[in-house]
Amino acid sequence: MKTNIVLLGPPGSGKGTQGEMLSRELGYVRLSTGDMLREAKRDGTPLGLQAKEYMDCGALVPNELIIDLMMERIEELGEGAPVVFDGFPRTVEQADALGDEVDVDLALNLDVDDAELVNRVTRRRSCPKCNAVYHLDFNPPAKPDACDKCGSALYQRDDDKEATFVNRLATYRENTLPLIEYYERRGNLRTIKGTGDIGEIFEKVKDAVL
Ligand code: AP5
Repeated sequence: MKTNIVLLGPPGSGKGTQGEMLSRELGYVRLSTGDMLREAKRDGTPLGLQAKEYMDCGALVPNELIIDLMMERIEELGEGAPVVFDGFPRTVEQADALGDEVDVDLALNLDVDDAELVNRVTRRRSCPKCNAVYHLDFNPPAKPDACDKCGSALYQRDDDKEATFVNRLATYRENTLPLIEYYERRGNLRTIKGTGDIGEIFEKVKDAVL
């Protein structure tokens, strides 16, 4: 089994969904910078207050804040724990920082068309407590507006409104898309079509990971 996996893909491509399945079914520790930042925002920490202004307009939080945050989390992990990085790295500078700390065994790129991404993001509902994600049509919760896992009331992320999503997609193209070539050059990129049944995509993810 690959030890350190990076999930790449545009906003809404299914990184969180597949990362959560890797965690639940194969025991990976999932480190999601988006979840960490949303928690910091909710708790009103200094990091959360700084991050808010960038997140709310669909921009990236500055590298130095994110890299420090991620390095702290990596240090807290035990030796050899399998990790899936979800939403990190997002810039070449972040990828270099990660590569200085761990050997990335696999960069898994989820490929989804723009038209489907808009629908996925604007119809997503998230759990503020356990970070589970749902889609009102494709992956609905059993009870409307309540998390299946912990029962908390679901919410729509501030940055899931269509106008902010357009900015996030542009930010992805400018800053994160170059990472596909970055990992391709290192020989550890694998691209998977990220459309269709969630379980079938996970079978392809497992195939790449095991
Ligand atoms: P982050 O939370 O990382 O957002 P993102 O990368 O834009 O990704 P998303 O969470 O929107 O989507 P996803 O790919 O995880 O898809 P999901 O599985 O939820 O980051 C948010 C913000 O934080 C950034 O904009 C930035 O400001 C900041 N930030 C975070 N990391 C940073 C970093 N490293 N550097 C700087 N700033 C950073 O799926 C989406 C929806 O589709 C769900 O409703 C799901 O149920 C549904 N779905 C999933 N798979 C399928 C399928 N196969 N078919 C149909 N629906 C599906």
